[in-house]
Amino acid sequence: MTKLAFVLGSNWLLSIAELLVYIQDKGFDGTLIDHSRNAAIVDIKQRLDSDQIVDMQSALGGCYKIGKVIWEYDIDVPLKAYPARNVANKEDLDEIRKCPWLKIVWPRVKGKKVKFGISTYPIFDGRFPINFRSFTRGLDDRVKKLLVENGARRADYFAYDEPDRRVEARLNIALWPKTIAQNALLATPNAEILAIFSEEKLYIARTRIVYDSMLQQYRDESRPFVSSEISTSPKICRTLLTLAGARPGDTILDPFCGTGTILMEAAILGMECIGVDIEGDQVQGARSNMKWLGKDLGMKLEYDIFKGDSRELSSLVKKQVDAVAFEPPLGPIYKKPPLRDEAEKTIKELTALYRQALTEIANILRPDGRVAMTIPVINTDGDPLSIKFRDLIGGTGLALYRMLPGDSIKSRKDVHPRLRIRPSRELIPERKRGQVVQRALIVLEK
Ligand SMILES: C[S@@+](CC[C@H](N)C(=O)[O-])C[C@H]1O[C@@H](n2cnc3c(N)ncnc32)[C@H](O)[C@@H]1O
Repeated sequence: MTKLAFVLGSNWLLSIAELLVYIQDKGFDGTLIDHSRNAAIVDIKQRLDSDQIVDMQSALGGCYKIGKVIWEYDIDVPLKAYPARNVANKEDLDEIRKCPWLKIVWPRVKGKKVKFGISTYPIFDGRFPINFRSFTRGLDDRVKKLLVENGARRADYFAYDEPDRRVEARLNIALWPKTIAQNALLATPNAEILAIFSEEKLYIARTRIVYDSMLQQYRDESRPFVSSEISTSPKICRTLLTLAGARPGDTILDPFCGTGTILMEAAILGMECIGVDIEGDQVQGARSNMKWLGKDLGMKLEYDIFKGDSRELSSLVKKQVDAVAFEPPLGPIYKKPPLRDEAEKTIKELTALYRQALTEIANILRPDGRVAMTIPVINTDGDPLSIKFRDLIGGTGLALYRMLPGDSIKSRKDVHPRLRIRPSRELIPERKRGQVVQRALIVLEK
């Protein structure tokens, strides 16, 4: 049995949906046993080896870190040891300070130089009656002291005192993957320790792998063709591929490939790619990106990129494909919310385009294959307006695939409303603050 902790992307629900789809597709017997908006704890019946955990990290667009859970405390212990307002309870403070898990991470430290970091993940927004900063710093100092007492030649920790780059007012209490990689914190005897809070527990986990943000940044900035207006983020591309059930060796199709970000991510994961786009410059650009990637990886990549209209896909693509992942055009780039009539017209046009493309996709998709796509949600001057996805798929030969199956989620009834997961979701929103056109993800199956 393996109990794993996953540090989630900014859309926690989508990250959990992706994680559960991945686990199911891999044939692992896994259950989500606890979660916050920052992390998920998953119990997997099988024993997973390091390669399997590395594969998980590469596949999951919505995961920043994966750790193995090594200790658990009832939430009352940190609540009383590091209360946000009251005075600390000495017994509980001592309980945390004992760090019984230390021996699991560092069985032999005599004479060694150790670098470590402790990353704390609150339930959400740090709003919980625990002083997370004191907790993190307290644990940093304590672990350092214990390591030296256990014979380490030196013990140094990495900690942040700067504000979070995303939320100025909030202090950072978790290390970025970049810092972990730059300081080799995952190479023994070094370690990163995850302190993950849920409503019920404090989980202590040892990080096994982190998202390679430096490599991603390098690829994003160095590829020859990029368009900030249309390119899909590489992390969402991986999520779409995972939701579509794409595996290494599969042939995947992006019928609206644009600059080819999905194709690039698929090629990195060892898939064969087919791309289609109606615009000649996008086709040329996607081809030059794939050529560049092949050179960069030192590999011959298998791909075909066609110029054409996805409403006539079966006349362009003569091969059966295993999975389809895409971000179609989402309508005009609105600077301010459009009038409802205008948004309705856009939605109608897009629905017709998507329906025709999906009907064609169904013709070349492998039986039991899946399609993962984004759809727009337009904020009008009234309510948000989106594609009626049930009507959209009628007659296409595809059916809705429900995400977040109830039997793989063990959640408490009295969970905080902001943490509630409604099982069997047909659609998951992917909101970005301040944008007029938001997105949602749907998955279809043949
Ligand atoms: C949102 S962009 C895709 C972005 C892409 N994922 C990327 O990372 O660059 C949508 C693309 O669909 C293309 N497109 C629009 N209508 C099309 C059609 N009928 N058939 C094929 N491609 C189409 C556009 O040219 C555009 O490049």
